[in-house]
Amino acid sequence: MKIVGVLGAGAMGTGIAQVALMHGHPVILVDNDHAALERAKTNMRHAIQREVEKGRLGPEATVYTLETTDRLDALRPSGLVIEAIVERIGAKHDAFRALSGIVADDCVLATNTSSLSIAAIASAATHPERVLGVHFFNPAPILPLVEIVPWLGTAPNVVSETKALVDSWKKTTVVASDTPGFIVNRVARPFYGEALRVADEGIATFATIDAAMRELGGFRMGPFELMDFIGLDINLAVTRSIFESLGFDPRYRPSLTQQRLVDAGMLGRKTKQGFFDYRGGAPEPEPLIDREVGERVFDRILSMLINEAIDAVHWRVASPADIDLAVTKGVNYPKGLLAWGDERGLDHVLEALVALQTEYGEDRYRPSVLLKRMVRNGGRFTT
Ligand code: NAI
Repeated sequence: MKIVGVLGAGAMGTGIAQVALMHGHPVILVDNDHAALERAKTNMRHAIQREVEKGRLGPEATVYTLETTDRLDALRPSGLVIEAIVERIGAKHDAFRALSGIVADDCVLATNTSSLSIAAIASAATHPERVLGVHFFNPAPILPLVEIVPWLGTAPNVVSETKALVDSWKKTTVVASDTPGFIVNRVARPFYGEALRVADEGIATFATIDAAMRELGGFRMGPFELMDFIGLDINLAVTRSIFESLGFDPRYRPSLTQQRLVDAGMLGRKTKQGFFDYRGGAPEPEPLIDREVGERVFDRILSMLINEAIDAVHWRVASPADIDLAVTKGVNYPKGLLAWGDERGLDHVLEALVALQTEYGEDRYRPSVLLKRMVRNGGRFTT
């Protein structure tokens, strides 16, 4: 079994190490913080024990080979190293430069970055053709999706071998291009951003928008309860990073309301206040039950989501099949957005966007070139 090295024993590194251990790999986990390593060991032991108790793993799973250390050179025998340290380009450069001097020439170096460019990280490695992104979602042992992200210079066999390895860990892998937000974080932006616009304009309240998306759309959570769950600061940081790295495209413009809540330290469930109030005894806001308002809100947000997914196809972020797989497995959408576009009618989606663009006169609502072409040619994404 290939030895898997994991650099960084925080939330993600621990989860990734656990996944590799559960699939029989010897794992070397490195962190410069001893307390993080101790926490990681305890958390993994308990998590694997729980899986065995629930019968999801055999009792042999409790016997595994895990080395934890603060020494980077312990990673020397690894066939694959997955880096999950702080999200700072300087730190990643230092790590990839140092790793290059330690591991064998055929070792694959992967990064779990969410927002940095894989090309930029690879530039510090001696063998940049063996570097790629392997982007897990949090919590890594539970969420099935993993985005495999080659940069322009990643060797094709490194992509296929790494994808096959992660597939063998019973994950759903999709291949994304080295572009901001990869698939999920980019394509999901309108779920939050357009919901915030609708609320800012006073068209509907947070509770009403959430109810519309749940009840008419079948989404498991509405955008505001989901942002409260993720943490408004984290959600805003992702939006801001995509907005900036895609050239300040108004489609991704961060919301002032969200910024003000973050300024006030109202970050969602973790601070007990966000869009909603989680302090005991606070009254739950009632959604307005009005089918017409609900439909209008749902149609606007979904049309923006479908347009975003189509634009991602246009810009070759990923294949249509992988985009739909990514949103159903990565953010639990009830349907793939491209399949949903076919179902609602691409002409209807185009009309909705043209109406918004005409009304607001904003580039934010421009329909994707591919959407226009598909409608002109009568095309579909699904058969
Ligand atoms: P974290 O802050 O929980 O853990 C980072 C760990 O790396 C810490 O234990 C720290 O001591 C260690 N570390 C920092 N610099 C180091 C170095 N030079 N050498 C060795 N260890 C070092 O961070 P988290 O949330 O686990 O994120 C890690 C990476 O995964 C980041 O790139 C992040 O963007 C990405 N990511 C995070 C997700 C999340 O939801 N938290 C989801 C997907 C990706």
